[in-house]
Amino acid sequence: MDGSVSTWLAHRTWYAVALSSDVDGGRVHGADFFGHRLVVYRDTGGTAVVLGGQCPHMGADLSLGSIVGDDIQCMFHHFCFGPDGSCTNIPSNDRIPSSARVASFPVRERWGVIWAFNGDEVDTEPPGIRDYDDDSLAYRARRTDLFPVEPWVILGNSFDFQHLRYVHALEFEDPDDMVWFDDGRVEYDVDFSSPAFGRFHQRIRVCGTNTVSYVTTGAVDSMGLFTTTPTSAGAQSYYISATPRTGSADEIEERLAFQEKLADDLLVDDIRAFTGMRFDESGCDTRAQVRFRGAARSSTENCRVTARPRGMPTAIGDAPTIGAAL
Ligand code: FES
Ligand SMILES: [Fe+2]
Repeated sequence: MDGSVSTWLAHRTWYAVALSSDVDGGRVHGADFFGHRLVVYRDTGGTAVVLGGQCPHMGADLSLGSIVGDDIQCMFHHFCFGPDGSCTNIPSNDRIPSSARVASFPVRERWGVIWAFNGDEVDTEPPGIRDYDDDSLAYRARRTDLFPVEPWVILGNSFDFQHLRYVHALEFEDPDDMVWFDDGRVEYDVDFSSPAFGRFHQRIRVCGTNTVSYVTTGAVDSMGLFTTTPTSAGAQSYYISATPRTGSADEIEERLAFQEKLADDLLVDDIRAFTGMRFDESGCDTRAQVRFRGAARSSTENCRVTARPRGMPTAIGDAPTIGAAL
């Protein structure tokens, strides 16, 4: 091992920044994104808007403001900003300087989650669940765990087959048919058995550097999608459980609850593994781990936000890099 260490990497991908329910009923949501502030709300048509959340006038938190038409109004001196980030009104001044604007992000809403794209040119859509149309599934989204490492390190577990045996007590053969797509998806299938869950088959899809979905068949058919977003305190995870819209409401609920328990039980062990870790990527030495690490490095170009979280300690203790002005 050469003792190299990881720093926080920003990737050009879709990040979950709010649950849909966070902005229902005209509510305004503040989100921590790489240590920067975002404001999330809905315009008059119900479309979600994600903007830089620090007012360019004197820096007030726009998530404490009010929605006025399609705009967000700062609570301090009532500057207004439209969905494209431009300032639309300064009550105390006829002239609006061109510098009075905040960043605006490409946005999608999928799986009960609001996703912001960390880049200008959208070249993918937010992740889906393998082999299923969204409309065919009942689903439930939750904000779940906070991890002490960056998203791509967590997703690296999808390629760390040894940890599945030692941390999660799963028995299986390593997949030999992983398919790597040009758009950042990786797909493979595994037959597992475990003392806790018996025998089950999973069709797994990693999307980009921060999302993985599972289609589980066995005693219960259910699906899960795990995604995680960097904040100043760590990586905030979201989990979507899903199941085909078949059977009674009770049966659907039972399958959703099974999938959530499966995820919760597995993730609590992953968090233990990462707690206190000073991640050393040079230990990622299997073919799949090396390939994933290379893919993660190559998707750091053309990002809208490039800074790792402010105040986030790193193994080498250097100063934070400066990202896009939000
Ligand atoms: S700080 Fe926002 S309008 Fe003054
Ligand atoms: Fe794991």
